[in-house]
Amino acid sequence: MLLPNGIQHLPGYLDHPAQMALLEAIRAVVTAAPLFTPVMPGTGKEMSVRMTNCGPLGWVTDKQRGYRYQPTHPVTGRPWPAMPPQLLDLWHDIAGYEKPPEACLVNFYSDDARMGLHQDRDEQDLNAPVLSISLGNTCLFRVGGLNRNDRTLSFKLSSGDIVVLGGEGRLCFHGVDRIYPTTSTLLKNGGRINLTLRRVTA
Ligand code: SIN
Ligand code: FE2
Repeated sequence: MLLPNGIQHLPGYLDHPAQMALLEAIRAVVTAAPLFTPVMPGTGKEMSVRMTNCGPLGWVTDKQRGYRYQPTHPVTGRPWPAMPPQLLDLWHDIAGYEKPPEACLVNFYSDDARMGLHQDRDEQDLNAPVLSISLGNTCLFRVGGLNRNDRTLSFKLSSGDIVVLGGEGRLCFHGVDRIYPTTSTLLKNGGRINLTLRRVTA
C-alpha cells in the first residue's frame, strides 16, 4: 500500500520478547503515574482512551486549559516517571533525530475505545518525527492528508508494529477506527496500548 510521503509502517518491528519487556516497563510507568481519563477542551466530553505519560513532559488535556504539555501528572501532581531506556533506544534507532524525545504518551484502548481523526500539532518542534508503537490487540489505523477532508486510507496495526509520522507526513490527520478483540494475547485483559514518542520543545 502506498502511504503518504513521510509515513512509514514497520510491521513486526518488536519481536515477542521485546514486546514483553516493553510492556513490563510500561506497567511500572502506570504504577507510578496512574492512567487518567482525558476530556475534550471546551465540551468536557470524556475520551474513550485512558492515558498517562513518561519522560520530562507529558501530553494532557482538560475542559478549561485544553491540549498541552506539562512536567507533572494532572491528578497526582508528581513529575512523570523517566522514559524507559528501551524507548530511548527505539528513538535513536528509528527517528533519525539528534535530540532525544521528551514525551511518551501512553494510550490505553479498551476493546471498544477509538480515537477520532486528528493532527499531532501541540509540539513546538515539528521537524522531529512522531514514533508510534503498538502493543496488544490489533487496531484499524486511518491516515489522511494535511487537510481534514483529504482522502484517507486504513490499515491494521498489530502488536509490535511501529509507525513513523515524519517529514511531509508529520502533520497528516490520523486516528484509530476500531480495536479487534482477541487478536493478541500480550495483554491479559485485552485492549491495546499505543505509545507515542515526541520531541516537544524546539
Ligand atoms: C494517537 O494518534 O495519539 C494514537 C495513535 C494510535 O493509537 O495508533
Ligand atoms: Fe496522534
